[in-house]
Amino acid sequence: MADYGFGNPEIVEEEVDILLIGGGMACCGAAFEIMRWAEGTGLKIKLVDKAAMDRSGAVAQGLSAINTYVGDNDPSDYVRYVRNDLMGIIREDLVFDVGRHVDDSVHNFEQWGLPIWKQPGDEDKTLREGGKPVRSGKWQIMINGESYKWIVAEAAKKALGIENIQERVFIVRMINDKNDPTRVAGAAGFSVREHKLYIYKFKACLLAAGGAVNVFRPRSIGEGVGRAWYPVWNAGSTYAMAAESGAEMTMMENRFVPARFKDGYGPVGAWFLLFKAQVMNGAGEDYNKINGHLIKDEKRFGKYGQGIPGTCLRNHIMLNEMKEGRGPIMMDTPTAMAKLAEKMTPKEVKHLEAEAWEDFLDMTISQCGIWAGENIEPDKTPSEIMPTEPYLLGSHSGCAGIWVSGPTDLPGVPKEWSWGYNRMTTVKGLFTAGDGVGASGHKFSSGSHAEGRIAAKAMVKFALDNKDWKPELARSVAELVEEIYRPVKTFLEHKDYTTAIDINPHYITPKMLQFRLQKLMDEYCAGVSTWYQTNAKMLEMCEKKLEMLKEDSLKMRAKDLHELLRAWENYHRIITAECHMKHIQFREETRYPGFYYRTDYNFIDDENWKCFVNSRYDRDSKKWELKKVPYVQMIKD
Ligand code: FAD
Ligand code: ADX
Repeated sequence: MADYGFGNPEIVEEEVDILLIGGGMACCGAAFEIMRWAEGTGLKIKLVDKAAMDRSGAVAQGLSAINTYVGDNDPSDYVRYVRNDLMGIIREDLVFDVGRHVDDSVHNFEQWGLPIWKQPGDEDKTLREGGKPVRSGKWQIMINGESYKWIVAEAAKKALGIENIQERVFIVRMINDKNDPTRVAGAAGFSVREHKLYIYKFKACLLAAGGAVNVFRPRSIGEGVGRAWYPVWNAGSTYAMAAESGAEMTMMENRFVPARFKDGYGPVGAWFLLFKAQVMNGAGEDYNKINGHLIKDEKRFGKYGQGIPGTCLRNHIMLNEMKEGRGPIMMDTPTAMAKLAEKMTPKEVKHLEAEAWEDFLDMTISQCGIWAGENIEPDKTPSEIMPTEPYLLGSHSGCAGIWVSGPTDLPGVPKEWSWGYNRMTTVKGLFTAGDGVGASGHKFSSGSHAEGRIAAKAMVKFALDNKDWKPELARSVAELVEEIYRPVKTFLEHKDYTTAIDINPHYITPKMLQFRLQKLMDEYCAGVSTWYQTNAKMLEMCEKKLEMLKEDSLKMRAKDLHELLRAWENYHRIITAECHMKHIQFREETRYPGFYYRTDYNFIDDENWKCFVNSRYDRDSKKWELKKVPYVQMIKD
């Protein structure tokens, strides 16, 4: 084996029964649940996270609301709400399944120490005891959530046992079984701290490594680069590794473009729902009132603009205002706070001001940085709102992801939507949850946790049903080392060719390659610079440029472990980006106006496209196959 300068990596090989990949909400849910089913079975279970579980994933900075708590509502109504927000196409079996299980996770969070706001008089009652939460919206409840992830991770660690958790290992490759290519048998990754390569064999795994950030050119530049709404850890690993192992993907054309407090990327939910703030255009007009009728155009938006507008349609109205030159869009925080303060005592007003800051201190500290840095007091000065660059995810207000097997006990669901094990992908032994599951958004933190639990139970069954099966990897250790450390080898072979370490005709730095990916996705695949617009011709160019980028990506260099991490994140992003682009190309309509526009088919076309779009990637030929899959409505309107 070649010497990679910082020495050959130490190879650590381990065989377990079940591997949990990721340490976010879904994997924490799985880690907590799995021991209840695995107790006494002798199954060996391990969790690997690229980062440190206490602060990894989308909940790293904490949150100020739990966005899915069904409570007194009906899970069927939850399905209706998700369907409406995601423009009519969701897997209702999966959404219903989350809806009926999610509250138990929330009750556990409270039991583990998460402070949940209660209605006056109910402060001492837990939700389980019937305490009424403070709802910001029909589905959302308020929390003091700075330590949310710590609390959830602690319960997961306690259940699984600290000795079964490996932090700071970045999984970069799934490995199929040698004797059955439709089955997954292992995963390989490296430590981001030590020079060690980890190779795991298993019967089943939960691939729940979040969605994808930084695929598109971000709005942040210069010293702000790296600031995004979605967390930096999640670089498309879930989608890329699943696709490369042959899993069928679904709705990868979908993306989430959140409207956010500009530059700090502060979420808007609490301001809209709890504080009841209005947004206005640059002229101080309530543009939703003036131009809200835009989405009522049935020819373009069908029936989707008639009821409560979904998240993308709200964006559409905002984007129209900006494009027409009536920006900037401002959140009128002073009026909202003054209205709320009308009936408050001075002490309550002080508390309200504290809440306004705490909403961000608990969840998006950078927004407080912006407020402090720009001398903004939210009770005195409005704040600018802007739609961000696109992110790919399946658990928030988006539904990109993997096609999975659903529950078996629900009426009205096609038989072929369930192949035995809940949340298993079309690859045997490969399960997913949270951002990984496609066509089932609006799970948020609580729903992702619940879904991890659902998958955990099914994985135990799968592992027990396959007790005597022995995984054999289709790829040798030497091949894996060669592939994974290629950027290091490239660097060592060519580094002395020039005197400037970053400039070399034989290699490209991961940072530069990332800029190239982001630029082409931005300019051709409906990023911010084209107002989220694309068309067949632009997509054709995108496709060509992506192909060349893919070729050149083999020349990425890694001068240290950090760059190796960056290089592999880019590989994952590229496959994810390609999948996203192919899906947008295939779906000849504009299903999500406000998230992206196909200007050559700038309307919703229910007649031809009220269906899922599924795809499969062939790793050997590097080709994608796409198809339509009929949508089936399970819950009546
Ligand atoms: P994550 O929780 O993001 O976990 C992904 C995990 O995978 C991380 O541990 C990461 O380190 C790990 N990982 C990534 N790649 C690899 C790899 N290759 N190998 C190993 N490990 C890997 N929900 C609410 O309910 N309320 C809110 O107020 C709310 N606010 C939000 C605010 C922000 C800024 C964001 C981004 C999300 C918010 N959400 C909120 C949504 C919620 O956080 C997500 O729905 C949820 O965290 C998704 O769970 P997950 O397990 O799929 O992903
Ligand atoms: S957060 O998860 O990063 O905090 P965000 O603030 O957008 O996201 O949303 C929190 C919750 O509020 C989500 O359930 C979202 O759908 C909802 N929400 C945000 N803005 C609005 C709005 N204008 N109208 C209705 N619901 C909204």
